[in-house]
Amino acid sequence: MSLSSRDKKNIWHPYTQHRLFPDSIGIVKSKGSYVFDEQGKKYIDALSSWWTCIHGHSHPYIAQKVSAQLKKLAHVIFAGFTHEPAVQLAERLLEKLPKNQKRIFFSDDGSTAVEVALKMSFQYWHNKGESKPKVIAFRNAYHGDTFGAMSVSERGAFSKPFESNLFDVIFVEPPVKGKEQQSVENFKFQISSFKSQVAAFIFEPIVQGVAGMVIHEAEALSEMIRICRENQIFTIADEVFTGFGRTGKFFASDYLSEKADMMCLSKGLTGGAMAMGVTSCTEEIFNGFLSEDRMKTFFHGHSFTANPVACAASLASMDLMERKDTWKNIKRIEKRHQQFMKQVSSLKSQVSSKIGDIRLLGVMLAIELKTSDKTSYFNSIRDKAAKFFLDKGILLRPLGNVIYIVPPYCISDKDLNYIYDSIIEFIESL
Ligand SMILES: Cc1ncc(COP(=O)(O)O)c(C=O)c1O
Repeated sequence: MSLSSRDKKNIWHPYTQHRLFPDSIGIVKSKGSYVFDEQGKKYIDALSSWWTCIHGHSHPYIAQKVSAQLKKLAHVIFAGFTHEPAVQLAERLLEKLPKNQKRIFFSDDGSTAVEVALKMSFQYWHNKGESKPKVIAFRNAYHGDTFGAMSVSERGAFSKPFESNLFDVIFVEPPVKGKEQQSVENFKFQISSFKSQVAAFIFEPIVQGVAGMVIHEAEALSEMIRICRENQIFTIADEVFTGFGRTGKFFASDYLSEKADMMCLSKGLTGGAMAMGVTSCTEEIFNGFLSEDRMKTFFHGHSFTANPVACAASLASMDLMERKDTWKNIKRIEKRHQQFMKQVSSLKSQVSSKIGDIRLLGVMLAIELKTSDKTSYFNSIRDKAAKFFLDKGILLRPLGNVIYIVPPYCISDKDLNYIYDSIIEFIESL
């Protein structure tokens, strides 16, 4: 029996309506920008597998470091114990993170990195004897699928069944181009109304990924961070997607003149090879938990916190991020995206009339298609596009009517051209 048939009997997949989509493609190996299915078909991974494999799949250098670590120390409890890969990784991350970041807390993935930041914010104020139950988040935000992360994400189809279990969040408009002044004014108004009740403001810096790769204005976002600081509201930059070169800088926060108090990392953190999350914070936040009173401890941890093998994968990925070639590739991809964007703009009207906004930053390129349905994850164009690209050997899952690519940095120009041509062909077919 094929992998796909065996899978169908026993497995429940994420984000999958099994009644409509009972079959999963069995993948047997991967290399660089490609994954190969059990029939031997090759797919170009235009999304770096949910935005994780920044250096490409099965990277030999990461594999070598992971293998060596597995043989030396595979796992150890992280309460009361520590180890070289975690200590080194914390040191190296802090070298790259904004200067105000002083402490590293490890967890398992993007959602848990966000949970940790939210719990740190609430408990900091609790430890000080203050109750601040609210959080500010952006409209259309996505921060993960656990309860805290879901609470601060846009309320919609994903969170509908859980609505009564989510905590109170003030949603504000993000500072997109042309509306930045308005969104800052509204932000000030919300702060003046609720400030004593707000523990933190969480945001995806510069690019809101799941929202459809929506780009924010750096100056306005910096202004929002500044306003929070003045009002004793912590700021959390969720860099789960944007970290590690995705936006053309090491972190998207590097575009901001004001830095957040906490940062959440995952996905590219281990080069996509292992599951791991990190929440970094300022010394002020860490100090808010130091006490003779043991009830002020941050009682949070996971079985696999700071798993040495995941840390080794991350250290290897950090080594790759130091290589000149990596940054050359990021620049090359961005330049190719820009050329493609120009090409699309000059296309005959039967194509360009179907295109709404085109957004580009770093290696991320998003094309919003004009459709009669509204822009949403469930736009009917999504399934049609996903099938079209799979048939062409391209792994690309649009966000509703937004077709986007976030390729691994090692993708070749030839494969990029093939993806661009296929995108045009798809738009022509509509
Ligand atoms: C900005 C952001 N935060 C958090 C998450 C959740 O990460 P994970 O799926 O690893 O839990 C995601 C996932 O796409 C994300 O894009």
